[in-house]
Amino acid sequence: MARCIVTRALPGDAVARLSREHDVITWDGAEPPTSEELRDLVADADALLSLLSDRVDADLMDASPRLRVVANYAVGYDNIDVAAAEQRGIVVTNTPDILTDATADHAFALLAAVARRIGEGDDYVRRGEWQGWHPLLLLGKPIFGARIGIVGMGRIGRAVAERAKGFGMEVLPYRRGDGPEVLRDLLATSDFITLHCPLTDETRHLIDAAAIETMNDDAILINTARGGLVDLHALASALVAGTVGGAGLDTTDPEPISTDHPILRAPRTIITPHIGSATTHARTAMADMAVDNLLAVLADHEPLNPVTEVLTNPRRT
Ligand code: GLV
Ligand code: GLV
Repeated sequence: MARCIVTRALPGDAVARLSREHDVITWDGAEPPTSEELRDLVADADALLSLLSDRVDADLMDASPRLRVVANYAVGYDNIDVAAAEQRGIVVTNTPDILTDATADHAFALLAAVARRIGEGDDYVRRGEWQGWHPLLLLGKPIFGARIGIVGMGRIGRAVAERAKGFGMEVLPYRRGDGPEVLRDLLATSDFITLHCPLTDETRHLIDAAAIETMNDDAILINTARGGLVDLHALASALVAGTVGGAGLDTTDPEPISTDHPILRAPRTIITPHIGSATTHARTAMADMAVDNLLAVLADHEPLNPVTEVLTNPRRT
């Protein structure tokens, strides 16, 4: 029996399955564990099922000499030092594919909500301001036939492209390895720009003040990937100045975002609390996948969904 740490209660019966074979401790604090609490929890563990909000760095690994496997409950794994894990022979796994459609749906929901001012319209009705039909009320931006720039053409980026085709959109892709002029052209000519690349040293603040400056004044930016891709202060300033058309953000930096952050006062912006994969279907499948990976490694089998250092594996975007 191995000792397994699960840092949050998960949907479905995956953790119960794990408990039938191993000794499982599930963190049940009201808040996520702090880094010290995580360190204490994992100190004599063989396996960790981590959330994207758990930082799994070299220090944590060095404080957990028995640790053999970290199964991240997410497709992204920028919270884990994968190179440090590789050096220590710790297997890292993620949950690809099963959340692709949920996340692409959410990106499109944000896109439509910002373009057609759904949040503002809902507030307006609830505040009792609706006096009747008006030709100039809450005019939005066309979606059908518009041009969408997709930054990162991995699984989720491609799934967004499929949805965009249904809306008659022209897709402008930016793939890893495309030169800066491709990104520049995408930013300068897209009606909608949606981010689907991993957060790495190279992509941090990919959308900075200069990138935002390159965008059209009515362009709408969607981010369902990682908050660190966008300089949120620069974005908030541009929204206030009217040099960008709107933003739909499911991820921010930091998370949670404090209620006095300027982005919360920016106009034409919808923010959701990192719920891209939040369907019961996806979240249950993610729990099963993470547990199946732990069970495989603990039984000395190959992991089902191993990740390797992001920069040495060009297939992963
Ligand atoms: C969610 O953000 C994930 O990476 O799964
Ligand atoms: C709008 O409701 C219309 O009928 O044009």
